[in-house]
Amino acid sequence: MWKPAARIRYSATGGRWPTEEEARQSRLFAPLAYRRLRLSQRTWVPAMVPWRATEDGEVTGDVLDWYRRFAEGRPGAIVVEATGVRDVPSGPLLRIGHDRYLPGLKKLVEVVREASGGETRLFIQIIDFLTIRRRPEKTKFLKRFLTVTDEVREAVGAGDLSEEAVRDRLCELDENELREILSPRDFESLTRGYRQRVTDVELEEIRALPETLPDLFAAAARRAELAGFDGVELHYAHAYTMASFLSALNTRRDGYGGTREGRVRLPLEVFAAVRERVGEGFVCGCRMLTEDCIDGGSSLADTRYFAERFAAAGMDFISLSRGGKFEDAKDPKVGQAIYPYTGRSGYECMPGYLSDDFGPFGRNVEPGAAIRAAVRQAGFDTPVVTAGGIHSFEQAEQILADGQADVIALARQSLADPDWFTKVRSGRGDEVRLCEYTNYCEGLDTKHKMVTCQLWDRVDLDEPGVKLTPDGKRRTTAPRWKPGRSDGADTVE
Ligand SMILES: Cc1cc2nc3c(=O)[nH]c(=O)nc-3n(C[C@H](O)[C@H](O)[C@H](O)COP(=O)(O)O)c2cc1C
Ligand code: SF4
Repeated sequence: MWKPAARIRYSATGGRWPTEEEARQSRLFAPLAYRRLRLSQRTWVPAMVPWRATEDGEVTGDVLDWYRRFAEGRPGAIVVEATGVRDVPSGPLLRIGHDRYLPGLKKLVEVVREASGGETRLFIQIIDFLTIRRRPEKTKFLKRFLTVTDEVREAVGAGDLSEEAVRDRLCELDENELREILSPRDFESLTRGYRQRVTDVELEEIRALPETLPDLFAAAARRAELAGFDGVELHYAHAYTMASFLSALNTRRDGYGGTREGRVRLPLEVFAAVRERVGEGFVCGCRMLTEDCIDGGSSLADTRYFAERFAAAGMDFISLSRGGKFEDAKDPKVGQAIYPYTGRSGYECMPGYLSDDFGPFGRNVEPGAAIRAAVRQAGFDTPVVTAGGIHSFEQAEQILADGQADVIALARQSLADPDWFTKVRSGRGDEVRLCEYTNYCEGLDTKHKMVTCQLWDRVDLDEPGVKLTPDGKRRTTAPRWKPGRSDGADTVE
C-alpha cells in the first residue's frame, strides 16, 4: 500500500475513557432519530468486505460468524459489506441480485438481531461495479487481445506485413517502446488489466447504464427489505460505478456527466427508484466521498453540492468516506487484478500508522464537517456519518460536540475490538484493544483472503470450537471478551 513520503510514525492512544455515568450522559451514546433512521446510539460499523461469501455470492457460516461478532458489541448500526446488485459472478463477494439470495440474507438479519438483543440497526451496502480483468501476460495480450490498428501498424513500420507478423514485432518491444506505440488505453490494459469506465459509451451496456441501474438497485433494495434489513446504503463511494458517475472525470455527454448537475443525475434517479420500490419506513441513505483524492477528480465544492442534492431528495443519512480510486492504484502483477486501495487515494481511505504531518487519525473529519455544514445551510438535518482513523471516545465525542458529524463510524477499530462499544459504554474503555492502523487486514483484503486482525488472529487457536481460515493458521473472529482484563487477546478460556 502507498505511504506518505514523510513516514512519520503514529500510535493510537485511548486517551481518557468515560465512566459508565459519563458514557450515559455522552453524545456518542445518545439516541438519534431523523426521519426513518432510529439509532440507540451514534455509533456505526461501516461496510467492510471480509471475503467470506461463497463463489456464488451466498451467505456462509463464516459470514454469519463475522456479523454475529460485531453485533455482540451492540453498536448503533452495522452496515453489511458491499453486496452486488447484479446476478453475475463476482468471486466471494455477497450478492443480492436474485431472490435465491433471500434465505441466506434473512438468516444474517436474524443472527444480528439475536446477538445484539435487537439494539443494532442493520443496513446493507448495495453496489454496482464494472468489468475489470486481470493484468494479462504480455505475449498473450499482444497476440490475442490487442486490436491491431493502422496507427499501430504504422508505428512499428510494418507496411503490408500480415497481422501475425505485426504482433510478433510488437512482442519484441520493451514496455517503454510499447508505451510510445500503443494507445494510452491499450497500454493501460497491458500493464494494469482491462478496466471498463462509465465513459465507454461506445459499449452498449455502458451507454445504457442510466436505464439499467435504477431498476437493479431498486430490486436489490426491495430484496433487502424482504430479508428484514432496516435499510440500504447505496454505494456511491470509492472506485465503483456510481462514484464514477459523480466523479469530475465523468465526461459523458448524454446528460449524465460533465457538469455537477449531470453527474449527480443518475445517483438521484437510482435513489428515487429505490425509494419508490421500498416501504415508507425502510431507511435509505448513501455512502459518498468527501473528495476523490486523485488528479482531476471531484473536490469538496462538488461533493458539498452532491450532498445537498441527496439531502433535498430525502435521503435518511449520508455516510462519508474519501479516496479509494482505481486511477492512482499500483500496477498489479501479471495474473492479478488492479485494486483500488493501493495508491495515494487508497491511503486517504484507510490511512495507516506511517503518515504525514496530519497523521492517520480523523483525516476525513474536516472535509466531512464542510459537507455537513453545506447540508445544514441548505436547510436539512440529514445525519452525516464520518469515518477514518477514529478509535477513542474523546475523539468521537469531540467530533459530535463540534457539530462535525452526527454519527461516528469505526471500521478497523471495531475489527480490532468488536466489543469497543460495550466496553466504553460500561465504563471499561481501558480494556479496549486499540487498532494499530498497520493495515494488515487491508493487505488480506487486497489479496481477497479472509480478513482478520493481527492483534487476535493467532490467539488461542486450540480453543474448543474456534474456527480457522482455510490455511488453518488464523482464527476467523475475535476472541470473546472477559470483563476485567485489559486485552481480549489473552483472556480467552
Ligand atoms: C477490510 C476492509 C474492507 C472494507 N470494505 C469496504 C466496503 O465494502 N465498503 C465501503 O464503503 N468501505 C469499505 N472499507 C472502508 C471502511 O468502511 C472505512 O471507510 C475505512 O476503513 C476507514 O475507516 P477506519 O479508519 O475506521 O478503518 C473497508 C475497509 C477495510 C479495512
Ligand atoms: S490488522 Fe487489526 S490492528 Fe492492524 S489495521 Fe487492521 S484492525 Fe487495525
